[in-house]
Amino acid sequence: MPYPMGAQMKFEKNILCIGAGYVGGPTMTMIANKCPNYKVTVVDINKDRIDAWNGPNCPIYEPGLDEVVAKTRGKNLFFSTETDRGIREADIIFVSVNTPTKTFGEGAGKAADLQYWEKTARQILANSESDKIIIEKSTLPVRTAEAMERILNANTKGIHFEVLSNPEFLAEGSAMQDLEKPDRVLIGSRETPEGIKARKEVVAIYAHWVPAKNILESNVWSAELSKLTANAFLAQRISSINSISALCEKTEADVDEVAYAIGTDSRIGSRFLKASVGFGGSCFQKDILNLVYICHGYGLHEVAEYWESVVKLNQWQQKRFIKNMLGNMFNTVAGKRIALFGFAFKANTGDTRESPALAITRGLLEEHAEVIITDPKALPHAREDLRDIKSGVSFEPDPYKAAAGAHAIAVMTEWKEYQSLDYERILASMPQPAFIFDGRNILDHRKLFKLGFNVFAIGKAPLKHF
Ligand code: UDX
Ligand code: UDX
Repeated sequence: MPYPMGAQMKFEKNILCIGAGYVGGPTMTMIANKCPNYKVTVVDINKDRIDAWNGPNCPIYEPGLDEVVAKTRGKNLFFSTETDRGIREADIIFVSVNTPTKTFGEGAGKAADLQYWEKTARQILANSESDKIIIEKSTLPVRTAEAMERILNANTKGIHFEVLSNPEFLAEGSAMQDLEKPDRVLIGSRETPEGIKARKEVVAIYAHWVPAKNILESNVWSAELSKLTANAFLAQRISSINSISALCEKTEADVDEVAYAIGTDSRIGSRFLKASVGFGGSCFQKDILNLVYICHGYGLHEVAEYWESVVKLNQWQQKRFIKNMLGNMFNTVAGKRIALFGFAFKANTGDTRESPALAITRGLLEEHAEVIITDPKALPHAREDLRDIKSGVSFEPDPYKAAAGAHAIAVMTEWKEYQSLDYERILASMPQPAFIFDGRNILDHRKLFKLGFNVFAIGKAPLKHF
């Protein structure tokens, strides 16, 4: 324990992160863990969130996170609501506040809503008494750093702010692994002597545990755009394989076999080729729409349309899933009980932002189905997301109870536990004919069919008894 609580410790540097969310929380925890010589403070305007970070259970579920927080908190990792003070004391400030899609005015539905960003910039300006390095951690439109620089350096206090971009590539559910062994860390700065000096200071943080070859340096605009591009490419692969899944269902090709076959080509690679009910999460759709908006802004309408089709295909895939359920359940689900296995946007997280399960639930409710939702981690968020629904939805932590009496099961999230359930017992508790719609292709379809289920997977020929 290098820095016991209460000890008068002089840290080499004070690092602040504004925004204690899915990105800021785990990232700063890892930095604190790997850099005991730095004091790391994470601030947030949301007091409940900060209280949770300071309590026994972190406000987000992320495998391995609680342990590292417990190890570092109170030593060199601190969570607080005192943003102004945090700014005053910091040498380096990461900004990780949310940048949702704008819901109003110009660019509504596409552009990034930068109001929290600008507010944060002004707060940094108002409370700073010394030069600082400001790091964009949130995903932002390319050239946001320019606006940030203008706001910050328009000060009369003689303080210099160097604005850098250090986008975070972690994926939820594997955040701690991704942070511990990142494929790369990207640090972009101005190519001025001050910019390069600041860049080296940020490199020095990551050099505590990331091999030098994995720390990439670039100009600030490349770093900003690389983050949007990485998310767009990842999402595009999913939409590409999902488009092929529709064709597989018409032709008796099997999408998992096709994905495997193309993935063995080292030029294509095997990851992010899992066909599904659609991609979710807080980033993919938001970032692509943001890219689309930027391209239109520069008059690059064909480029914008190309990327927008990735989002459209994803929405279509979700609609197609509901249509498939309807078509195969004799064109009506009205009054039928449907059990959704999983509500999180992916396994190993409680996060439900943009989860396909949301669209599926709402679509089924429009068809007057009765939806029962089960999920090992995401039920609190699911309840919150569906709080406007007065009837027709219920929540059940136990998948056996959720399935009992259900006409159909629809797998929404690839939780491992759904693969090892006793489906014989489940089938016996359901009215016949019983249906399984596997939106993640994680179950043993032949085995389920042999048990007596009618099985519909993504991109595979249906297995039905009628
Ligand atoms: C992050 C990035 O910020 C976003 O740009 C990226 O695309 C996705 O990941 P995330 O950490 O998932 O977002 O967001 P969230 O969990 O909503 O955390 C943001 C936090 O910032 C919230 O806790 C919010 O209370 C806080 N916040 C917001 C502030 O502290 N100050 C503000 O002014 C606004
Ligand atoms: C993503 C990026 O991976 C990460 O680098 C970035 O920092 C934030 O956005 P995240 O949204 O947490 O991370 O999860 P990710 O693993 O990318 O999955 C996104 C969605 O795509 C999930 O709904 C997932 O189920 C789906 N997906 C993923 C597929 O449907 N098929 C795949 O092959 C991979």
